Amino acid sequence: MSKKIVKKVSQSFKDQFKTKPLLVFSPGRINLIGDHTDYNEGFVFPAAVNKGIVLAIGKNDTKSCKTYALNKKEFYEFETKNIKPLPNGGWRNYVLGVVGELSQIGVKVDTFNAVFAGDIPAGAGMSSSAALENSFVYGLNELFDLGLSKDEMILISQKAEHNFAGVKCGIMDQYASMFGVKNSALLLDCRTVESKPYNIDFEGYRLMLVNTNVKHDLSESAYNDRRAVCEKVSALLGVNALRDATKKDLYTIESDISKEDFQKVLYVINENERVQQFSEAIQKKNITALGRLLNESHEGLSNKYKVSCKELDFLVEQAKENSNVLGSRMMGGGFGGCTINLVRKEGFKEFKKDVSKKFKKEFKKKCSVYSVKLSKGTRIIN
Ligand code: GLA
Repeated sequence: MSKKIVKKVSQSFKDQFKTKPLLVFSPGRINLIGDHTDYNEGFVFPAAVNKGIVLAIGKNDTKSCKTYALNKKEFYEFETKNIKPLPNGGWRNYVLGVVGELSQIGVKVDTFNAVFAGDIPAGAGMSSSAALENSFVYGLNELFDLGLSKDEMILISQKAEHNFAGVKCGIMDQYASMFGVKNSALLLDCRTVESKPYNIDFEGYRLMLVNTNVKHDLSESAYNDRRAVCEKVSALLGVNALRDATKKDLYTIESDISKEDFQKVLYVINENERVQQFSEAIQKKNITALGRLLNESHEGLSNKYKVSCKELDFLVEQAKENSNVLGSRMMGGGFGGCTINLVRKEGFKEFKKDVSKKFKKEFKKKCSVYSVKLSKGTRIIN
């Protein structure tokens, strides 16, 4: 968490509203492995990071809520009655979504003032939206003493994403952001919504994120389409979710579905198994297996599930050719954002330089490289 951002957000709130706010930090997340398995009630392996959203929030005694997005310098005022999503509302829909979904479950919030800013690069696939939703639901819960549990809060955030941002996401992002554990990744079972923290120490290796700095337009509709395919095939197989399907089951309906749908479901079944193999490899400190599983995950996301793009595939190819990198894959929903790489500590700088140069040459634009610390979940910071 950046102290500079905390200071700026808190100062901006005091300047505008002349009172002292409640301060909340809500982190973004990475995902070691297990993408597009969460809405299939499968396993994922995310971790909250030290980048996120800082929110300053306080009660007000007027008829409307006043919100200010400090990075964008955009102000938005709304009343809490009859809340609906705005067309092309951007960040406003996450805020409206949280308040609207709270009122859907009969929780009425009073008016408030809020200022927020963050350091998760937009479109990086590190869940800045889940961090924003969680910061608001957590802040409102605290401010108005709503008595919600963290489990209830993440469902509000998820519904805000579904009904106000229009993305039928799973629970991974909101969960990881809310429940993150320092220095750990969470092996999360998305059916029971329970997780086990694994202390992450890759010994001679470190995680590196490489951001393509692209986000392709179709990502939201393509995401919802993938989810619809999974649900259609589950129904055909007579299972509640693909989590319950085996490869043997899938072959029994091979001729009833398209080749493309077959490949997508095959990816989900394989990826779900990989998450469990990854957690076993962590326990056994089998670093080579971790690298192999990352590469296999990317192959599936790119060729079977078809959620990669040329920039992500290029980064993974570069990683494969570099002997300092054990494994690499795209991370998150896809169609842009970051790759996650397991890189030898001594070769970190060299790979950073090499991949940046080659990306620039290929696409005539820059990629960005980050290293992150695994952090605690959403919390009050004053
Ligand atoms: C997005 C969604 C998550 C998850 C990932 C893919 O981040 O919000 O629920 O489905 O994509 O793993």
